[in-house]
Amino acid sequence: MPDSHTSSYADFYRRSIDDRDAFWTEQAALIDWQTPPQQICDYSQPPFARWFVGGTTNLCHNAVDRHVAARPDAPALIHVSSETGSERTYSFAELHREVQRMAAILLSLGVQKGDRVLVYMPMVAEAAFAMLACARIGAIHCVVFGGFAAGALASRIDDAEPRVVVSADAGMRGGKVVAYKPLLDEAIRLSQHQPESVLLVDRNLAPLPLVQGRDHLYAPLRRQYLDADVPCEWVDATHTSYTLYTSGTTGKPKGVQRDTGGYAVALAASMRHIFEARPGETYFSTSDIGWVVGHSYIVYGPLIAGMATLMYEGLPTRGMDGEPDPAVWWQLVEKYKVTRMFSAPTAVRVLKKYDVAHLRKHDLSSLKALYLAGEPLDEPTAQWISDGLGVPIIDNYWQTESGWPILTIANGVEKKPSKFGSPGVPMYGFDVQLVDEVTGLSMTEPNRKGVVVIEGPLPPGCMQTVWRDDQRFVDTYWRSIPGRLVYNTFDWGLRDQDGYFFILGRSDDVINVAGHRLGTREIEECISGHPQVAEVAVLGVADALKGQVAMAFAVLRDGRLAADPAARLRLEGEIMQRVDGQLGGVARPARVLFVALLPKTRSGKLLRRAMQAVCEGRDAGDLTTLDDPAALDQIRDALAAPKPTPAAG
Ligand code: PRX
Repeated sequence: MPDSHTSSYADFYRRSIDDRDAFWTEQAALIDWQTPPQQICDYSQPPFARWFVGGTTNLCHNAVDRHVAARPDAPALIHVSSETGSERTYSFAELHREVQRMAAILLSLGVQKGDRVLVYMPMVAEAAFAMLACARIGAIHCVVFGGFAAGALASRIDDAEPRVVVSADAGMRGGKVVAYKPLLDEAIRLSQHQPESVLLVDRNLAPLPLVQGRDHLYAPLRRQYLDADVPCEWVDATHTSYTLYTSGTTGKPKGVQRDTGGYAVALAASMRHIFEARPGETYFSTSDIGWVVGHSYIVYGPLIAGMATLMYEGLPTRGMDGEPDPAVWWQLVEKYKVTRMFSAPTAVRVLKKYDVAHLRKHDLSSLKALYLAGEPLDEPTAQWISDGLGVPIIDNYWQTESGWPILTIANGVEKKPSKFGSPGVPMYGFDVQLVDEVTGLSMTEPNRKGVVVIEGPLPPGCMQTVWRDDQRFVDTYWRSIPGRLVYNTFDWGLRDQDGYFFILGRSDDVINVAGHRLGTREIEECISGHPQVAEVAVLGVADALKGQVAMAFAVLRDGRLAADPAARLRLEGEIMQRVDGQLGGVARPARVLFVALLPKTRSGKLLRRAMQAVCEGRDAGDLTTLDDPAALDQIRDALAAPKPTPAAG
């Protein structure tokens, strides 16, 4: 491979688009193959791209086994929980052992290549073992974020149809135990599909009643398979490694399906060109394994690069002793000599409430860069953390669907300045364009707002399809721009005269709360199920801390109730509880307000953008299509009304 540090990024990028196969042949050399690929990219059936066809490899081999030979005793997985006060480092050799034990258990429960294993777990080391064990035996993992409740989990169980579910008694958040098992039992009760077995890690945090014949405790099985020797199953590069559910415009979450070889190559390349990984160093991503950042940059990416990865359970503001400590992450950076750290703007905004001196309490000399993603990075936040840490702050824009950054700065190829407010430039392999939503024409002149799209084929590592729904993949992502077969990101953006992109928000009904991607339709469907609710609209409203929060406006069946503050208070509470119980606290609206009618067009389409503008105190824009102007006034009045308190009732 040519020394990438001497080439210009512009050349590097051009080659990735114009000489695609040669470019990715070089990148493919960053991983181990059992059989080398015969064809680099098969794009004979657009928009389906098949990467590294004919090659066989294994994600777990690349993440674990190949480093065992070179550096068995080097740290691989560092698990830290400020919730339980525990810290444990697994070397590559130890991780190798644990993953084989977990793999042996899954095999003993009948899991075969291609079977799904649903992982519903807090941030415990066993969650990473389970993911790697699935990859090892060719099973497909489906990790569901631990913050989701029974209803959300049930719909994912039905879509994934897992043979086994791996879970735990409980997680912890801010010192409070969050029991997982009752939620899981309820989800399995609600779902059509019944998993054969449930494997449970008992952390001794909550009671763990077992269902006879279905539930198995992890610890005794682990003891049984202490010396298990489970070789890696060599799978085709195109073999599905995992699915991960994400929200879209409809209420039904989509299973983003990812391959094996393309993903391994994409991550290995990104670790080198974007994250400037050095084997033996420590990477710390503060995300959760339930999100794509957790898959790519807690578990697979750092390990593939031979780095130690730090996996953290807890809040950014709670110390190892359970006392408030907004410097806990920096203490870990010092202790484990973290060189590359990955977080979200929301987390930084939380820390920003505290004195900047907390950032300087610990020796951060190991830290080389902080990467932030998941939501727009506002300039004051970027400036504050940049001044505080004194290292480059690198914004990166991507999606569950892409698996790795679409827009950022590839400092491992050529050092380039970042611009505040911009995640950067298109990454190699991504032919990013801006198009007019109505005409479908590409916009070439700078500083014009358009929809961010990507010309096919998507590079390695991106979604293969929607799990079991190729048609939905094509219709949703590739057929929404008139006259074009291009991948729609559903984000608005613009490009400046230097080629830097700026992301201007979603063009669909997806909202982003504290970096968590949520579909408003899913929340609306949940709220509509309340017997008193006739109709509801949920939208994302700008929030200084979380980026956006969900706001719900509901029309009640019995309109008189809305006039009664006590009834409003009760119903708002009931609706929030309903969302908590079915979808999880992450989806809970900040407020549920009651109106007599919702603003709609004459043809009955909800005017979400106008509602959002009113909520944010902006001009509501063009209202020529609005059927009844009183509807927007009602939104204004509902927002202005004092929040009812129990005393008022
Ligand atoms: O709207 C964009 C926003 O988050 C969406 C993707 O969310 P998710 O699938 O959860 O993947 C997150 C992976 C980091 C995008 O469509 N988004 C993500 N990163 C940025 C962003 N918006 C602005 N700037 C970013 N850096």
